[in-house]
Amino acid sequence: MSDLILGQVLYFTADPFDNGVDAARHIRRGGVLVEGGHIMAVGEADDLRAAHPTARITDYGQDLISAGFVDAHAHYPQTAIIASWGKRLIDWLNSYTFPEEMRFSNKAYAQQVAKRYFDLTISNGTTSVCSYCTIHPESVDAFFQAAATRNQRVWAGKTCMDRNAPDGLRDTAQSAFDDSARLLATWHGTGRAGYVITPRFSPTSTEDQLAAMGALWSANPDCLMQTHLSEQTDEIAWVKSLFPTARDYLDTYERHGLLGKGALYGHAIWLEDREKARIKEVDAALIHCPTSNTFIGSGLFDMAGLKASGHRIGLATDTGGGSSFSMLRTMASAYEVAQLRGRALHPAELWWLATQGSARALRADHLIGNIAPGMEADLTIVNLSSTPAIAQATARAESLWQALFPTIMMGDDRAIRDVWVAGQRVI
Ligand code: GUN
Ligand code: ZN
Repeated sequence: MSDLILGQVLYFTADPFDNGVDAARHIRRGGVLVEGGHIMAVGEADDLRAAHPTARITDYGQDLISAGFVDAHAHYPQTAIIASWGKRLIDWLNSYTFPEEMRFSNKAYAQQVAKRYFDLTISNGTTSVCSYCTIHPESVDAFFQAAATRNQRVWAGKTCMDRNAPDGLRDTAQSAFDDSARLLATWHGTGRAGYVITPRFSPTSTEDQLAAMGALWSANPDCLMQTHLSEQTDEIAWVKSLFPTARDYLDTYERHGLLGKGALYGHAIWLEDREKARIKEVDAALIHCPTSNTFIGSGLFDMAGLKASGHRIGLATDTGGGSSFSMLRTMASAYEVAQLRGRALHPAELWWLATQGSARALRADHLIGNIAPGMEADLTIVNLSSTPAIAQATARAESLWQALFPTIMMGDDRAIRDVWVAGQRVI
C-alpha cells in the first residue's frame, strides 16, 4: 500500500549558502509518494494522483510538507531541567545538570524521561536527534529502546566522565571503554540506531579516558564521535590549565585520536585559526546551538564566516542548556545570533540547516533531512498560520519565504500539524 501525501512541498537540491534560493524547490500543490518507509516520488499533486490511482491519499491542503527536523546535539537526560535560572556553564553543570543526570542510574526513571523526551520532540516536528545520555549504560538502553518503538533514526552514546564530576557520576577510562564498546556492539546499526562515542568534554575526562575513547573510535571508524568544544571563555581557560601542553582546546582531542571525519563538536564559538583550519581539513562537523548559547551566555557562533570557509555545520537545540525543544525556535535563535554578527540568514538557509545541514553533519544526508526518491520517509507537516499573530503576518506574504518566515520566528509545536516517521503517521 502506498501513501500519497498532498500539500505544499519544500525540498532542496543544493546548499542555499552556496546556491541561494535556487537550491530550494517549492511545489505549491505538490505531493510525496511513500511506500515501505521510503519516499518513492515527489512532484505535482495532479501528476502523482494520475500515476498512482490506488494510493491512499492524505491531503494537508495549504500546509507545508517538509523533511522532518534533525536535531544534531541534545542531552535527553536534561529534559526536566530545561529553563533552569541564572547560571553560566560550569555552575549550571554543577547546580542543575549533574544532580539530574545522577538520577539516571535508575532505569525506570531513564525510561520515563526518554519517553517524555520523544513525545516532546516529535510534537515539535523533530524526527531525528543525536543525543548525549549519562554515564549510566541504562540511560543509553532507555534512549535507544524508546526510539526503536517509534522507528526513529537516532544517534546517541554513553557520556563518559572520569574527573571533575561528583561521586556517583564518574566512570573510569577502562569502564568507559568497556561500557561504550558493549553498547556500541548492541546498538550501532540496530534498526535505525547509530552509536556515538561520547566523551563529554575534556575538563571531565582524564588524558587516559580521552585516549581510550580515541582507541574505541579508531576500532570503529564508521561511528560518529561527539563532544563539546570552546563554548565559554571560562571553560577554555580551565581547559588550558588542565592541559598545559596542549596547543589549544581542539588539541586536547586531536592528540588522543578524537579529531576526524565523523567528529561532531558542539558550540565551537571561540575557535582559534588553527582549530578552524584543522576541523575544515578533516571535514569534521560543528554543531550550532543558538538557544543554548544565548541562554547560558556563551557567545555568538560565526555561522557566516564558518560556512563561507566551507565548514560542515549542523543545527541543534542542546536541550536542556538550550531553552527549547523546537527546531523552529532554534532557527529563530540562529537568525538572531547571526543578525548580531551582521548577517541576516535567509529562511531557506535556516530551513536547510534544520534538515539537510544537520543530516549532513551526521553524515546521513543520503538517508534523512530532505524529500527525494529513495530517502527515508520522515516528514513534518507545518501549518503556516498556526496562531493569530502568525496568520495575520503570513496573510500578506507574496512568496513562500515570506509565508514561512513568521512561522520560523514565532512558531512552536502548534505549527506542527502532523509527523510521519519511516512512512507512518505518528501524531
Ligand atoms: N559542556 C559539557 N557538558 C555540557 C552540557 O551538558 N551542556 C552544555 N551546554 N555544555 C556542556
Ligand atoms: Zn551539549
